[in-house]
Amino acid sequence: MTTANVTWKSRWTFILAATGSAVGLGNIWKFPYITGEYGGGAFVLVYLSCILLIGVPVMIAEIMVGRAGRSDPVHSMAKLGREADKSSYWGAVGAVGIIAGLMIMMFYSVVAGWALEYVAQSVMGTYSAASTDEIESNFSSLLSNNNQQTIWHSLFTLITASVVAGGVAKGIGKAVEILMPILFGFLLLLLGYSWVNGDFSAGLHFMFDTDFSKLTGEAILVAMGHAFFTLSLGMGAIMAYGAYFPGKTSIGKTVLAIGALDTVIALVAGMAMFPLVFANGLTPGQGPGLMFVTLPIAFANMNGGLFFGTIFFSLVSIAALSSSISLIEPGVAWLEKYGVKRTLSTFGLAGIAWLGGLACIHYGAVFDALDYITANIMLPIGGLFIALFVGWVLPADTTAAEVSMGRGLIFKAWRIALRYIAPAGILLVFLNSLKLI
Ligand code: PHE
Ligand code: NA
Repeated sequence: MTTANVTWKSRWTFILAATGSAVGLGNIWKFPYITGEYGGGAFVLVYLSCILLIGVPVMIAEIMVGRAGRSDPVHSMAKLGREADKSSYWGAVGAVGIIAGLMIMMFYSVVAGWALEYVAQSVMGTYSAASTDEIESNFSSLLSNNNQQTIWHSLFTLITASVVAGGVAKGIGKAVEILMPILFGFLLLLLGYSWVNGDFSAGLHFMFDTDFSKLTGEAILVAMGHAFFTLSLGMGAIMAYGAYFPGKTSIGKTVLAIGALDTVIALVAGMAMFPLVFANGLTPGQGPGLMFVTLPIAFANMNGGLFFGTIFFSLVSIAALSSSISLIEPGVAWLEKYGVKRTLSTFGLAGIAWLGGLACIHYGAVFDALDYITANIMLPIGGLFIALFVGWVLPADTTAAEVSMGRGLIFKAWRIALRYIAPAGILLVFLNSLKLI
């Protein structure tokens, strides 16, 4: 067995790769539609609290474990566990994470395929000057066209596998450096458009007026699960990337930057979509199709809409790609330790995910189940064990030396978050959603 000798070019490349993993369909597609389904403001508040109190501390922990272990999530966790309490059982957390990553990839690539289809529709002008009804029925006919979905899903899986097979350090870094700022800039443009043309105040009220009567146990569980999903936590993606983290720079600041960027992009995406929802008499709770209906409505009516639509859906596809890479990478890195060639392991794992994607296309229930189980159960439980591991199993001296944030207030707060706040928070949310409290 060898330890990773590949590193990112610089800390900056790591930030972009980790941001590329974090910023994806979770922000632009999922966050607006679950916010719509679970009633808006109060849901957003719980989500933001989870990001700050649980997500940020757990992300620091994941990067720390990856960088200290210098290996895939299974071997990094096992190695540090052995050093601390002579048990290598902690590797199981990494193994479950690898499976969770593949399960997410199964439905993620289907949605990314929808985005590719909308690139094509923008180029061909399919929704140009179409009515709201026509645009809505465009999306439902895509959902009932299994062959069409299979083509796009296969293409997206193939592109993901080609990038991962080419190695982590080389291709991804450069791509995200160019693409992430463009995505960010375009979302701001869209926000401006929405400000001028949409019912902006209705959107604002929907996202930020807190009505706690809408906050069911289920809504809280989904908000917490999404905090893990959107930051790519609880399954080892960020841990695997951390293994290539160069040098001893501060992890804390890096994580705050990634968390802030991810959150801002989700909020901007919501603010770009809800005003259009209300201005066009749509319902915010319409589910997974939200993005694929509201945005084409905007583009259908705006000057240069097809051009902007092409760019926007290309960027969504690219954001999805920089995330999907990180869904496969932990498993590939793990197999690499056993001498399996990167190309073989990548196409093998992508093949498994591809089959699962076919099941998602043909059975909506499989899609829903995979989405629900990974985000709301597997990622929070993975995050719980990572928090317990770094908070309780690893000695404070080890973690203090690894995160290099001194031993002052910030370090203490981080450790309290891992030892008490995150575990208690996750357990309370589970108990509450099971109606046990
Ligand atoms: N964070 C990604 C998104 O928001 C999804 C993801 C989850 C990626 C877990 C990697 C690992 O779209
Ligand atoms: Na995200």
